[in-house]
Amino acid sequence: MDNTYTIREAVPDDAEKMIIYLNQVGGESDNLLHGENGFTVPVEGVKRKLAMSKDSENSIVLIALAGGQIIARAELDGYHPARMRHRAKFSISVKKEYWGRGIGTEMINRIARQAKKMNIGIIELEVIADNERGIALYHKTGFEDIGIYKKYFYVNGQYKDAVIMQKIL
Ligand SMILES: CC(C)(COP(=O)(O)OP(=O)(O)OC[C@H]1O[C@@H](n2cnc3c(N)ncnc32)[C@H](O)[C@@H]1OP(=O)(O)O)[C@@H](O)C(=O)NCCC(=O)NCCS
Repeated sequence: MDNTYTIREAVPDDAEKMIIYLNQVGGESDNLLHGENGFTVPVEGVKRKLAMSKDSENSIVLIALAGGQIIARAELDGYHPARMRHRAKFSISVKKEYWGRGIGTEMINRIARQAKKMNIGIIELEVIADNERGIALYHKTGFEDIGIYKKYFYVNGQYKDAVIMQKIL
Protein backbone atom coordinates (compact mmCIF):
# COMPACT_ATOMS: atom_id res chain seq x y z
CA MET A 1 0.00 0.00 0.00
CA ASP A 2 1.18 3.51 -0.91
CA ASN A 3 1.30 5.62 2.25
CA THR A 4 1.28 9.00 0.53
CA TYR A 5 -1.77 10.44 -1.11
CA THR A 6 -2.86 13.69 -2.75
CA ILE A 7 -6.31 15.25 -2.85
CA ARG A 8 -7.56 17.24 -5.84
CA GLU A 9 -10.69 18.04 -7.80
CA ALA A 10 -11.67 15.29 -10.28
CA VAL A 11 -11.53 16.03 -14.02
CA PRO A 12 -13.22 14.21 -16.95
CA ASP A 13 -10.02 12.22 -17.65
CA ASP A 14 -10.43 10.56 -14.22
CA ALA A 15 -13.62 8.79 -15.42
CA GLU A 16 -12.09 5.32 -16.08
CA LYS A 17 -10.30 5.31 -12.72
CA MET A 18 -13.46 6.52 -11.01
CA ILE A 19 -15.47 3.59 -12.41
CA ILE A 20 -12.83 1.08 -11.22
CA TYR A 21 -12.82 2.74 -7.78
CA LEU A 22 -16.63 2.81 -7.40
CA ASN A 23 -16.93 -0.84 -8.39
CA GLN A 24 -14.26 -1.84 -5.83
CA VAL A 25 -15.44 0.28 -2.93
CA GLY A 26 -19.05 -0.88 -3.43
CA GLY A 27 -17.93 -4.35 -2.31
CA GLU A 28 -16.24 -3.10 0.87
CA SER A 29 -19.34 -2.02 2.85
CA ASP A 30 -23.14 -2.18 2.73
CA ASN A 31 -23.40 1.57 3.19
CA LEU A 32 -23.12 2.76 -0.40
CA LEU A 33 -25.68 2.98 -3.21
CA HIS A 34 -24.42 -0.19 -4.93
CA GLY A 35 -22.41 -3.33 -4.16
CA GLU A 36 -19.29 -4.74 -5.80
CA ASN A 37 -19.30 -4.12 -9.58
CA GLY A 38 -22.73 -2.53 -9.25
CA PHE A 39 -21.81 0.82 -10.76
CA THR A 40 -23.20 0.70 -14.30
CA VAL A 41 -22.89 4.25 -15.66
CA PRO A 42 -20.83 4.19 -18.90
CA VAL A 43 -17.54 6.05 -19.08
CA GLU A 44 -18.98 8.84 -21.28
CA GLY A 45 -21.67 9.49 -18.66
CA VAL A 46 -19.08 9.74 -15.88
CA LYS A 47 -16.97 12.08 -18.02
CA ARG A 48 -19.98 14.35 -18.59
CA LYS A 49 -20.82 14.37 -14.88
CA LEU A 50 -17.22 15.28 -13.94
CA ALA A 51 -17.12 18.04 -16.58
CA MET A 52 -20.40 19.45 -15.24
CA SER A 53 -19.15 19.41 -11.64
CA LYS A 54 -15.92 21.09 -12.65
CA ASP A 55 -17.81 23.93 -14.37
CA SER A 56 -20.51 24.16 -11.71
CA GLU A 57 -20.91 26.98 -9.23
CA ASN A 58 -22.27 24.76 -6.48
CA SER A 59 -20.95 21.20 -6.98
CA ILE A 60 -17.55 19.61 -6.38
CA VAL A 61 -16.07 16.13 -6.85
CA LEU A 62 -12.84 15.63 -4.87
CA ILE A 63 -10.64 12.56 -5.18
CA ALA A 64 -7.68 11.25 -3.20
CA LEU A 65 -5.03 9.41 -5.23
CA ALA A 66 -2.25 7.05 -4.16
CA GLY A 67 0.03 5.18 -6.56
CA GLY A 68 -1.94 6.64 -9.47
CA GLN A 69 -5.23 5.09 -8.31
CA ILE A 70 -8.27 6.71 -6.71
CA ILE A 71 -8.51 5.76 -3.02
CA ALA A 72 -11.29 8.12 -1.91
CA ARG A 73 -14.01 10.28 -3.37
CA ALA A 74 -16.19 13.01 -1.89
CA GLU A 75 -18.97 14.77 -3.68
CA LEU A 76 -20.97 17.90 -3.03
CA ASP A 77 -24.03 18.29 -5.23
CA GLY A 78 -25.72 21.67 -5.00
CA TYR A 79 -29.41 22.18 -5.64
CA HIS A 80 -30.38 24.52 -8.48
CA PRO A 81 -33.88 25.88 -7.69
CA ALA A 82 -33.50 29.40 -6.29
CA ARG A 83 -35.28 28.52 -3.05
CA MET A 84 -32.88 25.60 -2.38
CA ARG A 85 -29.72 27.22 -3.71
CA HIS A 86 -28.39 27.55 -0.14
CA ARG A 87 -28.26 23.73 0.26
CA ALA A 88 -26.05 20.94 -1.12
CA LYS A 89 -26.00 17.17 -0.73
CA PHE A 90 -22.81 15.38 0.39
CA SER A 91 -21.47 11.84 -0.03
CA ILE A 92 -18.10 10.21 0.63
CA SER A 93 -16.25 6.90 0.47
CA VAL A 94 -12.68 5.82 1.23
CA LYS A 95 -11.05 2.54 0.15
CA LYS A 96 -11.07 0.17 3.12
CA GLU A 97 -7.32 -0.25 3.35
CA TYR A 98 -7.10 3.53 3.89
CA TRP A 99 -9.79 3.85 6.58
CA GLY A 100 -8.87 5.47 9.87
CA ARG A 101 -6.07 7.74 8.62
CA GLY A 102 -7.99 10.98 8.58
CA ILE A 103 -8.67 11.03 4.82
CA GLY A 104 -12.46 11.28 5.33
CA THR A 105 -12.00 14.13 7.81
CA GLU A 106 -9.65 16.01 5.49
CA MET A 107 -11.98 15.67 2.50
CA ILE A 108 -15.03 16.90 4.45
CA ASN A 109 -13.10 19.89 5.80
CA ARG A 110 -11.91 20.81 2.31
CA ILE A 111 -15.39 20.48 0.82
CA ALA A 112 -16.88 22.58 3.65
CA ARG A 113 -14.34 25.35 3.02
CA GLN A 114 -15.06 25.36 -0.73
CA ALA A 115 -18.83 25.19 -0.13
CA LYS A 116 -18.67 28.30 2.01
CA LYS A 117 -16.87 30.15 -0.77
CA MET A 118 -19.70 29.03 -3.10
CA ASN A 119 -22.24 30.66 -0.77
CA ILE A 120 -23.68 27.32 0.32
CA GLY A 121 -25.07 27.56 3.86
CA ILE A 122 -26.14 23.97 4.59
CA ILE A 123 -24.52 20.63 3.70
CA GLU A 124 -26.87 17.69 4.13
CA LEU A 125 -26.59 13.91 3.98
CA GLU A 126 -28.16 10.62 4.96
CA VAL A 127 -26.13 7.90 6.69
CA ILE A 128 -27.30 4.35 7.40
CA ALA A 129 -28.18 4.22 11.10
CA ASP A 130 -25.77 1.34 11.93
CA ASN A 131 -22.80 2.92 10.10
CA GLU A 132 -20.90 3.77 13.28
CA ARG A 133 -17.75 4.88 11.53
CA GLY A 134 -19.64 7.19 9.16
CA ILE A 135 -21.72 8.67 11.99
CA ALA A 136 -18.59 9.26 14.11
CA LEU A 137 -16.92 10.98 11.15
CA TYR A 138 -19.89 13.27 10.56
CA HIS A 139 -20.36 14.21 14.21
CA LYS A 140 -16.64 14.91 14.47
CA THR A 141 -16.81 17.27 11.47
CA GLY A 142 -19.78 19.27 12.75
CA PHE A 143 -22.87 17.54 11.35
CA GLU A 144 -25.93 17.30 13.59
CA ASP A 145 -28.77 14.75 13.45
CA ILE A 146 -32.05 16.21 12.22
CA GLY A 147 -34.23 13.16 11.64
CA ILE A 148 -34.65 9.54 10.66
CA TYR A 149 -35.45 8.36 7.16
CA LYS A 150 -37.35 5.05 7.62
CA LYS A 151 -36.51 2.18 5.24
CA TYR A 152 -33.91 4.27 3.41
CA PHE A 153 -32.03 1.25 1.99
CA TYR A 154 -33.08 -2.29 1.08
CA VAL A 155 -29.91 -4.36 1.33
CA ASN A 156 -29.32 -8.11 1.77
CA GLY A 157 -33.06 -8.71 2.21
CA GLN A 158 -33.42 -6.10 4.97
CA TYR A 159 -34.68 -2.54 5.22
CA LYS A 160 -32.34 -0.09 6.91
CA ASP A 161 -33.15 3.32 8.35
CA ALA A 162 -30.87 6.31 7.80
CA VAL A 163 -30.04 9.27 9.99
CA ILE A 164 -30.56 12.60 8.21
CA MET A 165 -27.85 15.10 9.12
CA GLN A 166 -26.92 18.67 8.28
CA LYS A 167 -23.90 20.88 8.81
CA ILE A 168 -24.52 24.59 8.99
CA LEU A 169 -21.64 26.54 7.49
C1 LIG B 1 -17.04 6.43 6.66
C2 LIG B 1 -15.68 6.63 5.97
C3 LIG B 1 -15.86 7.61 4.80
C4 LIG B 1 -14.68 7.22 7.00
O1 LIG B 1 -13.49 7.58 6.33
P1 LIG B 1 -12.07 7.55 7.09
O2 LIG B 1 -11.04 8.09 6.17
O3 LIG B 1 -11.83 6.22 7.67
O4 LIG B 1 -12.36 8.62 8.25
P2 LIG B 1 -11.27 9.21 9.29
O5 LIG B 1 -10.01 8.42 9.28
O6 LIG B 1 -11.18 10.67 9.00
O7 LIG B 1 -11.98 8.92 10.69
C5 LIG B 1 -13.05 9.67 11.11
C6 LIG B 1 -13.53 9.20 12.47
O8 LIG B 1 -14.11 7.91 12.41
C7 LIG B 1 -14.14 7.41 13.76
N1 LIG B 1 -13.70 6.03 13.78
C8 LIG B 1 -12.50 5.53 13.44
N2 LIG B 1 -12.50 4.22 13.61
C9 LIG B 1 -13.72 3.88 14.05
C10 LIG B 1 -14.34 2.65 14.39
N3 LIG B 1 -13.66 1.50 14.31
N4 LIG B 1 -15.62 2.66 14.80
C11 LIG B 1 -16.30 3.81 14.89
N5 LIG B 1 -15.77 5.00 14.55
C12 LIG B 1 -14.48 5.02 14.16
C13 LIG B 1 -13.26 8.31 14.59
O9 LIG B 1 -14.11 9.23 15.29
C14 LIG B 1 -12.48 9.02 13.53
O10 LIG B 1 -11.98 10.23 13.94
P3 LIG B 1 -10.63 10.26 14.85
O11 LIG B 1 -9.66 9.29 14.25
O12 LIG B 1 -10.17 11.67 14.77
O13 LIG B 1 -11.08 9.86 16.21
C15 LIG B 1 -15.09 5.29 5.46
O14 LIG B 1 -15.04 4.38 6.54
C16 LIG B 1 -15.89 4.67 4.33
O15 LIG B 1 -15.65 4.96 3.16
N6 LIG B 1 -16.83 3.76 4.67
C17 LIG B 1 -17.64 3.07 3.65
C18 LIG B 1 -18.53 4.01 2.88
C19 LIG B 1 -19.37 4.87 3.80
O16 LIG B 1 -19.87 4.41 4.82
N7 LIG B 1 -19.55 6.13 3.39
C20 LIG B 1 -20.43 7.03 4.09
C21 LIG B 1 -21.80 6.82 3.56
S1 LIG B 1 -22.94 7.98 4.26
